[in-house]
Amino acid sequence: MAYTRKEVPAEETERQIDICVRLRARFEGCAALVDTYGCQQNESDSEIIRGFLAEMGCTFTSDEYAADIIVINTCAVREHAEQRILGNVGALNHTKKARPGQIICLCGCMVQQRGMAERIKKSYPIVDLVFGPHELRRFPELLRQRLEGGRRVFAVAESDGEVTEGVPRVRDRGVKAWLSVMYGCNNFCTYCIVPYVRGRERSRRPEDVVAEARSLVEAGYKDITLLGQNVNSYGRDLGGGTDFADLLAAVNAIPGKFTLRFMTSHPRDATEKLFRTMSECEKCEKHIHLPVQSGSNRVLRAMNRGYTREQYLEKIAVARSYMPDIVLTTDIIVGFPGETREEFEETLSLAEQVRYDAMFTFIYSRRAGTAAAKLPDIRSREEKQADFDRLLERANAISLEKHLAYVGRTVEALVDGENGGREYPLTARTNGGRLVHLKGSPEIIGSYVNIKITDAATWALFGELEARQ
Ligand code: 5AD
Ligand code: SF4
Repeated sequence: MAYTRKEVPAEETERQIDICVRLRARFEGCAALVDTYGCQQNESDSEIIRGFLAEMGCTFTSDEYAADIIVINTCAVREHAEQRILGNVGALNHTKKARPGQIICLCGCMVQQRGMAERIKKSYPIVDLVFGPHELRRFPELLRQRLEGGRRVFAVAESDGEVTEGVPRVRDRGVKAWLSVMYGCNNFCTYCIVPYVRGRERSRRPEDVVAEARSLVEAGYKDITLLGQNVNSYGRDLGGGTDFADLLAAVNAIPGKFTLRFMTSHPRDATEKLFRTMSECEKCEKHIHLPVQSGSNRVLRAMNRGYTREQYLEKIAVARSYMPDIVLTTDIIVGFPGETREEFEETLSLAEQVRYDAMFTFIYSRRAGTAAAKLPDIRSREEKQADFDRLLERANAISLEKHLAYVGRTVEALVDGENGGREYPLTARTNGGRLVHLKGSPEIIGSYVNIKITDAATWALFGELEARQ
């Protein structure tokens, strides 16, 4: 089924902002809480929710008892997240009792799943408004509907998705910014719910992405992450010949010192051109997150990943030929339905072969409506957990070895925040995205510094400013 890219007319977005202005009569000075689960795309969506709320005159709080309006932006990738979210929504019974008139909204991927809106309608009467990812751009209108209509609102119509420009956004002040370059996913990996809840791939125009990146640099952001479910298919729907590597080069050309990151890359679509462009762009991080998911060809096929173990390893070799010290990270699923012991061993051996700087490992979680949900599962939870523990142990040991190799070296890193630690109060990121806990005082947040690495752990490095010569 062909999908044609749909842009939301600018007047429609202006209409939503207009509604915000009218809602000020109700919300001026009210406290809003926006709680975000899941991936960076959700973080980015929450900035839009905050943007609309700020247009309505709200201020922000992190205390649910102080909040007049609560928006929970949910995730559906694994069941565990879902259970946590529903548990937390249940707990809002208390806050709503303590603060009558509190408005509770649920949005994001979890509510877009088939049957979920009904379940919330029945079991969570405190929820006032439910809207899926496609309805995010209509949040002001839906909120007004809830207030004026006197009934709870459930907006989860299915859609392939649209591209909306010009929405207001409240970003965290600081050093880091997310920048969505595309939305949705066409891949239908058989375990994954994302294509069902976020719709088809659609790209923002390169000029819009570059203009937003330029305004971020001008506003002082130093660490910009280009976001998409699969950035490597950027531009296919635009038909203008710009691919992701071209976009990376265009953002890299913006004057000023900043770091350019991106995620996520599907290995099938990671090209030599991408690796060459990364190596040529001085602002681009020398890091790629390349989720392999499994080391077994049979499992990769059953997952519909579109590459073999050998092809994946070949991509890594090409990446390393352009950037010998490239930082590599990945996602792995343990216990995909039908995965045997031997197939799991192949994942373990792939991890040993690549030696990732960091691995994000997950036990397979059945998602209703996906193709894999229908496959028979042959291994018990306990067996999967034992495999998972083994993989995690090896992953951690490799990360630690790689991190220990930094000790004694001096690396340049961007100081990006404080973490409240006493000995190492600051955090910094290397070009390859490694976290450094740093000694020093907050005036240097936002600057690039040379750090002498003095210690290392599985997930972080530790260091101090290199003494000036
Ligand atoms: N079960 C377990 N892990 C999953 N992921 C996506 N769907 C599932 C699932 N059903 C993991 C993949 C993906 C990461 C974001 O989450 O590894 O890369
Ligand atoms: Fe899910 Fe695969 Fe799309 Fe990633 S590429 S969001 S794992 S379907």
